[in-house]
Amino acid sequence: MGDDNLMYVHPAPVRVWHWVNAVGFIILIITGIQIRFAEMVNWFSLEEAIQLHNYVGFVVIAAYGLWVSFYFGTMKIKLYFPNPRTFVPDAIKQVKYYGSGIFKGDPNPHHMTPDNKFNALQQKAYVGLMFVFLPAQMITGLFLWRVKRFENYIDLLGGIKIVSTIHVLLFFFFTAFIFVHAYLATLGHTPLAHFKAMFTGYEDHHEPEATEDAIV
Ligand code: HEM
Repeated sequence: MGDDNLMYVHPAPVRVWHWVNAVGFIILIITGIQIRFAEMVNWFSLEEAIQLHNYVGFVVIAAYGLWVSFYFGTMKIKLYFPNPRTFVPDAIKQVKYYGSGIFKGDPNPHHMTPDNKFNALQQKAYVGLMFVFLPAQMITGLFLWRVKRFENYIDLLGGIKIVSTIHVLLFFFFTAFIFVHAYLATLGHTPLAHFKAMFTGYEDHHEPEATEDAIV
């Protein structure tokens, strides 16, 4: 790729993780709706929904293992952590940009580079997602898969009702997240620019571009 505007920002393991995870989540949400609201929807039998949900749940857990191995193995995990000295002013700039600048065509205050690909708000959102919400969803899912086997851990968390409530509340959160995330992903220099980058690895860098990197 001899184009100077192209920047390699998403290495292959990140792309594989991301799309396996995204497709996995869509299947988990659909089968999850069937399991949780069985009296209202009739897309599959309950047994089919549970089987597919469990199988895809393990695929998503394995993909998360790939994400962890890649980011910690290469120490690129630093990308996810804000610089404590500049975090507050950077976050304020970014909030102002999303709140008003973006509508007036101002340039994005964050300039993406392979070593600094997320803006301050993305860092905050993605750290919460990858280190709190996703692990909590996977662990509660695992416990619900074999309630007897994980009885002691379930009791430690306050019982099966608490565990299943956490799992269902996170399911609502992730369902909403996918819509917001996919919408924000369209705010690149063209609506499909960031999507293309998540497939090819290369972000087309147009400077200065009003709406570039506008993703959480
Ligand atoms: C239909 C579903 C989805 C679409 C269309 C989508 C789209 C995208 C796109 C275009 C990017 C690249 C822009 C960026 O660097 O921020 C991205 C990055 C990212 N997405 Fe998604 N996504 C989807 C589902 C998900 C889900 C379910 C999760 C997590 C539960 C997720 C977590 C992330 C994370 C953490 C990144 C940054 C990855 C990295 O570069 O390390 N996405 N997504």
